[in-house]
Formats: sequence, structure tokens, C-alpha cells
Amino acid sequence: MTRRIKVCETGRIEDAAEQHRLWSIYEAAFAPLQVATPMRHGSYTRPEFEALLNDPDFRKYVARVGGIPVGLCVITTRLDKIPWVSSSYYAHRFPDLTARGKVFFLTGVIVDPAYQTAQRVGAVLLAKAIRSLGNEGVLCADYSENLRSGLRPFVERTLGQGAVEEVLDRQVFVAYSYRKKDPSP
Ligand SMILES: CC(C)(COP(=O)(O)OP(=O)(O)OC[C@H]1O[C@@H](n2cnc3c(N)ncnc32)[C@H](O)[C@@H]1OP(=O)(O)O)[C@@H](O)C(=O)NCCC(=O)NCCS
Repeated sequence: MTRRIKVCETGRIEDAAEQHRLWSIYEAAFAPLQVATPMRHGSYTRPEFEALLNDPDFRKYVARVGGIPVGLCVITTRLDKIPWVSSSYYAHRFPDLTARGKVFFLTGVIVDPAYQTAQRVGAVLLAKAIRSLGNEGVLCADYSENLRSGLRPFVERTLGQGAVEEVLDRQVFVAYSYRKKDPSP
């Protein structure tokens, strides 16, 4: 039976049981990715993750099915608080929107593996989060092309025809395999 997905937006998640549940989802969602992409995903430690849950500068969108948290989406305008992002770059690149607090960064979306795919929890969660960001702004994100090339068309569909995507940079991970010939006798 498909059960209704409810998404709530909040600044702080202080309840210890809820924090524990979301940490479990975070660990379980990222574990399989460690062999799928060279970049380490899910690099927050538990204290860092809990600090983020307690920090209202990070908007939290929690998806629940039957009242149980099954997914989390996090968006912030405080790019200086994201360890892997240069906030100066974004302030320089989007000065007017930065001054107006309209540069949004999607720091992560996670869905409990037991709830992935079948019910489209990720799609419902991400769409709700994106639609809450107002009529004007820039939504920034980073993602693995190995894993998430669907993010671009999804965001374009959700934001509508006015959305323009730019690739701001590319991080290239290369590997040159080689096998030396045995030296001639
Ligand atoms: C990515 C993830 C949140 C998607 O959730 P899901 O419930 O499995 O996904 P759904 O069944 O809703 O299908 C995915 C849909 O949502 C979109 N989507 C939602 N969040 C997405 C994301 N972060 N990246 C890419 N696509 C996403 C997809 O484009 C797709 O829509 P489409 O089929 O219309 O193109 C989930 O698989 C997950 O937790 N993965 C591990 C953690 C991760 O990689 N997070 C993303 C980077 S932080």
C-alpha cells in the first residue's frame, strides 16, 4: 500500500529520537555511494550533523510516511557554513542575489534506502523544498555525474521555463591505468 508522504519545513530539529533517526538515514543513504563515486559523500561526523540539525541557518525539509521520518533535504543561504564551498566565489559571481539573501545552496537530500524509488519520496521532498524558495533567486548544488545526472532536468522541470542552468566548474577525477612491460632479458 502506498502511504501519503508529508513534508514539513523547520529550522531546528532538537528531538533526540528524531536526530538519531535522521543520522541513521544519513549513514545508510551514503554507505552504498562510497564504491560508486571517487568523491567521499556523507562526510559529516555525527556531532557535525547534529549541529546542522540544530542550526536554523540550514532549512530542513523532513519527509514523513505514517509519521516516521524517511527523508531529509537541507538548503541554506549561509554558504560560508558549508565546509566544501567557497562562499566568496558565489558572492563574487552573484553579488545582487547574495546581498538579498537569495543564493540558495542545496547541501543534501537523503532518503531512507527502504523508502527509495518506489514511492518517489526524493522527488516529492526535493520539489517541495525547491518550490518554497520564492519567485526569484539562484539555487546552487553540486552532484556526482556518475550518480545524479537526473538532478538537472528535475530542477529545470520543477522551477519551470525561467530557470537557466550554468555549470560553474567541473572537478575531474582521472585514473591512468598502466602495466609496465617486463624488461627484456
Ligand atoms: C537521491 C535520493 C534522495 C532520491 O530519492 P528517491 O526516493 O530514491 O528518488 P525518487 O524515487 O523520488 O526518484 C528520483 C527522482 O527525484 C529526483 N531527485 C530527487 N532528489 C534528487 C537528487 N538529490 N539528485 C538527483 N535527483 C533527485 C530525480 O531526478 C528523480 O526524478 P525523475 O525520475 O522525475 O527524473 C535517494 O536515492 C538517496 O538518498 N540517495 C543517497 C544520497 C544521495 O545521493 N543524495 C543526493 C546527493 S546529496
